[in-house]
Amino acid sequence: MRVLVITGAGVSAESGIPTFRGKDGYWRNLDPAKLATPEAFAKNPNLVWEWYRERRQRIRNAQPNTAHQAIAKLAQHAHEFLLVTQNVDDLHTRADSPKEKMVQIHGDIFVTRCSRCDFSRDEPEQEYEQEQERRDANLPRCPRCGALMRPGVVWFGEQLDSRKIDIVEDYLARGDVDLTFVVGTTALFGYIVDWATRARGQNGELVEVNPDETPLSRFATKLVREPPAIALPRLINEILRFVRHST
Ligand code: OAD
Repeated sequence: MRVLVITGAGVSAESGIPTFRGKDGYWRNLDPAKLATPEAFAKNPNLVWEWYRERRQRIRNAQPNTAHQAIAKLAQHAHEFLLVTQNVDDLHTRADSPKEKMVQIHGDIFVTRCSRCDFSRDEPEQEYEQEQERRDANLPRCPRCGALMRPGVVWFGEQLDSRKIDIVEDYLARGDVDLTFVVGTTALFGYIVDWATRARGQNGELVEVNPDETPLSRFATKLVREPPAIALPRLINEILRFVRHST
């Protein structure tokens, strides 16, 4: 069984991490152009860092939920598996999804990278970050070239990392995907719809788990209109039971 799982903010909603466009989502009250673009960072890096530091803290205090755990279980049992997540949080990893079978296509909020050169560092611990802030008088600077450091995420108007695209493309090119799950994403980005529909191909199953309709819904072979934390444990247990009985 070859499996592809694509996740978005809805998968972490049940852990208390706001989505972007769902109910009470960030983009319902905040303007992405002021917080998540290279222009916003150039204009007001303090404001951008403040928002990302707040988000980092919220994620550190959150726990993976049953949807993250069910996906990790599927990863362990599927013959071949890839998780493509748009989430910059670390909840899939903390639920034990194998890192080598996961691509964070929009980056990692706990990475701080230089806005000019290729220097980057991981900042999972709050203490380390606070220490850096004190030393850098609030705005972190690159120890190598002196430019401002920025969060290691993809902003609007930026390219995806081509090495990460290659991982997804290679997985699709290696053979048919039997089962594709698209979970908790509004699927607004063309590449998400493209990967999901190509993975489905002629014969594969494409299961959308989302309380709301999305542009992907019409391509799905099964629609599950429930929150991921409720639906996924049940669906994945059913699949694993079926696979065990048929092998
Ligand atoms: P969105 O906030 O656009 O979509 C979240 C989806 O999850 C919606 O379709 C909700 O209906 C659904 N959902 C499922 N369960 C939910 C629950 N319990 N509570 C609330 N909503 C639930 O998030 P993404 O599709 O991940 O990118 O957004 C994609 C990208 O747009 C993000 O990675 C981010 C954002 O701007 C960048 O910042 C580049």
